[in-house]
Amino acid sequence: VSTRGWEVYPGSGAEDYFEPAVAITHSDGNPCTILRYVSSEQKDVAGGTETVINLKDDKYPVEVTLHYIAYPKENVIKTWSEIRHNEKKPVALWRYASTMLYFSASDYFLTEFSSDWAKEAQMSSQQLRFGKKVIDTKLGSRAAMHTHPFFELGLGQPVQETQGRVMLGTVGWTGNFQFTFEVDNVGNLRVIPAINPYASTYELKADEVFSTPEFMFTFSNNGTGEASRNFHDWARNHQLKDGQGDRLSLLNNWENTYFKFDQQLLAQLMKEAKALGVDMFLLDDGWFGNKHPRNSDNAGLGDWEAMKSKLPGGIPALVDAAKEAGVKFGIWIEPEMVNPRSELFEKHPDWAITLPNRETYYYRNQLVLDLSNPKVQDFVFGVVDNILTENPEVAYFKWDCNSPITNIYSPYLKNKQGQLYIDHVRGIYNVLKRVKEKYPNTPMMLCSGGGARCDYEALKYFTEFWCSDNTDPIERLYIQWGFSQIFPVKAMAAHVTSWNKRTSVKFRTDVASMCKLGFDLGLKELNANELAYCQSAVANWTRLKKVILDGDQYRLVSPYDGNHMAVMYAAPDKNKAVLYTYDIHPRYAENLLPVTLQGLDAKKMYKVKEINLMPNKKSDLDANEKTYSGDYLMKVGIHAFTANRTFSRVIELTAE
Ligand code: GLA
Repeated sequence: VSTRGWEVYPGSGAEDYFEPAVAITHSDGNPCTILRYVSSEQKDVAGGTETVINLKDDKYPVEVTLHYIAYPKENVIKTWSEIRHNEKKPVALWRYASTMLYFSASDYFLTEFSSDWAKEAQMSSQQLRFGKKVIDTKLGSRAAMHTHPFFELGLGQPVQETQGRVMLGTVGWTGNFQFTFEVDNVGNLRVIPAINPYASTYELKADEVFSTPEFMFTFSNNGTGEASRNFHDWARNHQLKDGQGDRLSLLNNWENTYFKFDQQLLAQLMKEAKALGVDMFLLDDGWFGNKHPRNSDNAGLGDWEAMKSKLPGGIPALVDAAKEAGVKFGIWIEPEMVNPRSELFEKHPDWAITLPNRETYYYRNQLVLDLSNPKVQDFVFGVVDNILTENPEVAYFKWDCNSPITNIYSPYLKNKQGQLYIDHVRGIYNVLKRVKEKYPNTPMMLCSGGGARCDYEALKYFTEFWCSDNTDPIERLYIQWGFSQIFPVKAMAAHVTSWNKRTSVKFRTDVASMCKLGFDLGLKELNANELAYCQSAVANWTRLKKVILDGDQYRLVSPYDGNHMAVMYAAPDKNKAVLYTYDIHPRYAENLLPVTLQGLDAKKMYKVKEINLMPNKKSDLDANEKTYSGDYLMKVGIHAFTANRTFSRVIELTAE
């Protein structure tokens, strides 16, 4: 039987000669696996139909089950695989793709998302030619620091926003992932999303099921705009934690105080949060540790008790102060990590991932806890559980993860180190599952020194993620543009800060207002006009957040194309829309083009109104307070761009 070509899940050792989906060295040493169709079934599941295909090797007792959930409304498919065997001894599993997809087109163009601290989601494109292109990470935790677990593929032409055949894909794995793109000898493309097999030969025992991460993908004949909206809808309907629910605006204290605060100052900031009009005050790093107080990033991680010197009344006093101020209270944790200078490390040095016989390398003075160890899982769960048991009114967590895995070696796994990268991530999911089960209604922000954790498995447990520590609004236009390719802005936290103070407070606020809005600056830095501006911007955001967070996003003008940017959100009933336009660095005597809108009802009439204006400022938008048909707005557009540098407008459109 020929096994060359288009097998849905090719095994190693046969005559395929390209990358296999699954590779097994059987217990007798044989490296060959050939899977054959056995049966398939379909069943209805929430939001769609699941197709299950059972495959079996006829010479070895190895079975693979392929799962595909098709969500017809959003045009998204979620797929994963399960590998099991019944051999007498364990087998060595060294490839375990989530799925294998084949494409046949004249040309293939890949858009990837490279990253670094403060430089997340940078888009770049290239043509895929014969051979392989691999995108992967070996960072273990904070795993997406250098590249994100998603990509775009243009078939026949590079991806474009409103036309062309495109496929968008993303793997739900908060650890080492790998995408392989292989153009074969006849010009077909294989796409293989997987856990990165690097240093991860997995010893699979009989009857143990190895479940791969889920891979989600969507396809559009109309470019990335439509494909992104497919993902946005699907995420809010089926994947993101509390995807249908509300989101809380907030004031964070990190960039305002860093580690320097006390109970009184925080109580003061809570009042400022109230005056600003946001829902919540979020206390960041630096509130814990007594024997090794957390006054800098070199001590205290692991000791999750309030620092008596700063916070004599502990968390209960903060919850009370928030109640008195009339805001909710949220708190920062980084529970998967430990500073060697901590009581936790003194007590349990073997809970940290560290290598024997080598000098220890510390990233941000910390080590990663060994989540493959169930005792460590209990401890990490306890960090959240203890805070919420003692303080049920704590309303929110910011869950950080600042270090990659260094000195990779698990004292717990002993001679099964090949499982560490994988079991560590599974251990994190065990903890997150317990947290979600016990506290289903507590929103949480996923943070990893910025946006180094941004995948759809983690987002089952988190309501949002922190896109980047870089809050320079110009950089944020690009970062948010990048993440929005895959994630709804409802899941993207954006804060107004003091980064790039050469830009106005209005510009910074308008950029953050396109996502889940927060502030991270001292309000005392603002003059009266600026503060009044922020208050009105918060009120507008709160009034319009249904449209912004739950509406359809249209990316109109890309910052990658030049000196401007425009994005809009339209309510599904097309009665309300919000348009954001930005001038970044217009050229001298540049021809300023009108912004043509999308997603409106051509037949409806819309009243155009510029909002988010500085106090005492009148709109100079030509179209302001005028009424146009949706048809006109989508074909002719409005002149919203200007020749000013770092200038922004927020425009509300209301159907009459
Ligand atoms: C990370 C986060 C920041 C902040 C600090 C605190 O860098 O990305 O937002 O919480 O940790 O140490």
